[in-house]
Amino acid sequence: ANITFDNVIYSSNNFSKNGYSTNISGKETIPDNKTAQFIKFDDMIEEGRKVAQRSYVVQVNSENSCIELHDYCQSICTVENMFYYRVKDDHFVLVEFSNSEAAHKLSFDPNNLAVVSPFIWFRTGKKKKLVPSSVNVSPLINISQGPTELEIIEWMTVAQSLLDEMEILYQSTKLSQLGFKLRMICARQVEMMLSGLFPNIRAFPFGSTVNSFGKEGCDLDLVLRYNFSQENSDDLRLVHHSKINGISSRGQTQRQMELLGDLLQIYVPGVIGVKRILGARVPIIKYSHEFTGVDVDISLTNMSAMYMSELLYIFAHLDPAAQRLVFSIKAWAKVVGLTNPSPGRWITNFSLTLLVLFYLQNERRLPSIDDLFKLAGPNDTRYAEEINCSFIRDLRNVRLELDHSKTTAELLLGFFNFYQNFDFNNKAISLCSAKIINKLDYSPMYIVNPLDRNLNVTKNVSLEEVERIRVEARNAAWALETSSRLVDLFRSSPESLMSKRKYISRMVMVKDLFQT
Ligand code: GTP
Ligand code: MG
Repeated sequence: ANITFDNVIYSSNNFSKNGYSTNISGKETIPDNKTAQFIKFDDMIEEGRKVAQRSYVVQVNSENSCIELHDYCQSICTVENMFYYRVKDDHFVLVEFSNSEAAHKLSFDPNNLAVVSPFIWFRTGKKKKLVPSSVNVSPLINISQGPTELEIIEWMTVAQSLLDEMEILYQSTKLSQLGFKLRMICARQVEMMLSGLFPNIRAFPFGSTVNSFGKEGCDLDLVLRYNFSQENSDDLRLVHHSKINGISSRGQTQRQMELLGDLLQIYVPGVIGVKRILGARVPIIKYSHEFTGVDVDISLTNMSAMYMSELLYIFAHLDPAAQRLVFSIKAWAKVVGLTNPSPGRWITNFSLTLLVLFYLQNERRLPSIDDLFKLAGPNDTRYAEEINCSFIRDLRNVRLELDHSKTTAELLLGFFNFYQNFDFNNKAISLCSAKIINKLDYSPMYIVNPLDRNLNVTKNVSLEEVERIRVEARNAAWALETSSRLVDLFRSSPESLMSKRKYISRMVMVKDLFQT
């Protein structure tokens, strides 16, 4: 087989693993706002689902098994793509067949008593002479190995401009194609497990896996719907009895979640560390997937969060600067300790993303959500948990008056200046109207929930944390005005009195930056 070692994960941008070289300095390299080529959110997910339906993750002994595995798989069905990756010391190959015929062959092995799942392993075969496969049919086996966090910091250090630094950070830490595919396969595994009982089950991905702001290593948020069906069965008079009617009480939902947790824990290969968090506003099951390294959160009643992710996806496609800015701001917030992996009185990545989007609205780079609601057509009507989620979903041929004259680097400084002066004491942020409004209660920070307008997304954030956001934004603005370097925001604080201990812990955080 023809194996290509593809260590350069973003070679099209002139970065290489052996060093950073670029000819993009000083110029905006991000594409123009080409909404004509826009892929609708639903279509993007549907495409990912279809690929997952003809994909398997095969555990192998080492990368040396790739060729043998390829030849074996090729004898079952044409192989379109293979991606080799490792999770700790285990070796895996994502095999993408060209059609779902392979799925049929692999799923119905009558001697196999295991739960049918897209995760399999490659048993040692009988010794026989391998006939080398013809070069024409061999796929590229992509060896997936991203750069280390220190390499990224190095590249940023030698980058020629702030703009380049932002581009490097974005390109080298965003969720990869393989990362997205593996998450779609994890979603499919949950569907496969439950499809015997619920033939119409759908596991919808939402959150950063699909909202265009996902980092490599981000978690997979799933919402399960048992009764998903696109067909209108109003005319059908013979109706199945059902114990689940879609509208279940909180108690029923918790029972279902408990059962789901048990099923995953007991039967499903790869699932480890199942936790049931049933007291939260949205009850969830959490687990880790040892064959993909992905952390998964499953809920049953959170379709509006999926539409929220679609809204963010639409914003990301209306302003290409949005992703670069969000990646830089999230990285900065993590290093200075504004965000924290455990939930608490600090700002979340989601709220931080909303702060960035609001700032871009304020710069007239993004429309208000009200505008997106007004543009909704008849096919855009959606309701989830009684919330109206009907906004325009197809950006092709949409004309909006947006001002994209500022560079992404100017926007970074602009963001810090905007929020260091923001009157969080009295004012709230509304992405719906794209306006600063008066606060509706005494929460220290108030961001109107873009879909459920009676809620405050940042209700959890404490007064001290709000003050810290402003102080850190001021420090960042100061540092940027002094050196115009993004790495300097990560490396040291402008407070000259910062203790050595704090400095060291911050360097450790820089190392952590590119891990989840
Ligand atoms: P990561 O940190 O990369 O996982 O980002 P994420 O956007 O996926 O965040 P997370 O996994 O915490 O949440 C998943 C989704 O739930 C988000 O994208 C939002 O749609 C929704 N969500 C998260 N936090 C909040 C919140 O505080 N309020 C509301 N209304 N929705 C939230
Ligand atoms: Mg998430």
